[in-house]
Amino acid sequence: MFVVKTQSTPPLTAPIGLFDSGIGGLSVYLHLAQQLPHEHYIYYADTQNVPYGTRSSEEIYRFTLRAVAWLYQQGCKLIVIACNSASAHALEAARELYPDVPIVGLVPALKPAVLATQSKHVAVLATQATLNGKLLNQVITDIAEPANTVVTKCFDSQLVPWIEAGMPPHHETAYSLSEKMRHFHQLGVDHLVLGCTHYPFFKPLLETQIAREQLNITVVDSGAAIASRVQQLLGIKQATSTHTVDYSQQHPTPKLKFYASQYDASLGALVQTLVQHPVELLNETLSQDTA
Ligand code: DGL
Repeated sequence: MFVVKTQSTPPLTAPIGLFDSGIGGLSVYLHLAQQLPHEHYIYYADTQNVPYGTRSSEEIYRFTLRAVAWLYQQGCKLIVIACNSASAHALEAARELYPDVPIVGLVPALKPAVLATQSKHVAVLATQATLNGKLLNQVITDIAEPANTVVTKCFDSQLVPWIEAGMPPHHETAYSLSEKMRHFHQLGVDHLVLGCTHYPFFKPLLETQIAREQLNITVVDSGAAIASRVQQLLGIKQATSTHTVDYSQQHPTPKLKFYASQYDASLGALVQTLVQHPVELLNETLSQDTA
């Protein structure tokens, strides 16, 4: 049983909280860090329970509310549920529980794909939880169907574990991803929506294949739009994305604290590789009753 929580208004210097089942939300963090480089961030990765995409709605709901409760307790001034699967099953409840903190959720960027498609056929690559969830299906009903656009849904349960493992090349998952791209091309898909925050990490691989094989596919994701939404919600008018940030000079202390429910050295190394600036890496297993 959850009760609505409120706290005194966090100061402007309070951190922005991010949550994902694993490292996927770092793809959103990278956009935030670029657009809002002077903010401080706390990231929680539920690596003990990743992947979420094949879990039940009830489990995703429970894990997500527990993580949001923890970020709220850390005094975050805004929370990003940087996970499409978690947003699909718990965004509404999180907003109801914490009405005094803006909570931003992720939904696959289907709308811009529908607005841009020429072939009237787009594909959404996402987890099963996201493909079955209310948020995406609402966009299909409200935006894609009235525009007579076909939406092909696709999932591969191996993608998230492959990314969490650092995307080893020459892996069968990499080959089946290339095959999927060819298949989309044959179907006449001209926009591919990456509907999981883990997937932008393989966007450069897809774009290399698209150029090499001359596939007429544009790959879209939600990262930049989410960062703009956060900027808007915080009322930060001056975009800072044009600044080149020298972290060693301007941020002597790490501005990203990365907490994981299951931490090991290879995870730390992967996070450092993906983020490419100093990160404070910590272990934090949340108890069942955190929420
Ligand atoms: N990064 C996630 C998403 O956006 C979750 C992937 C998973 O844990 O299956 O859906």
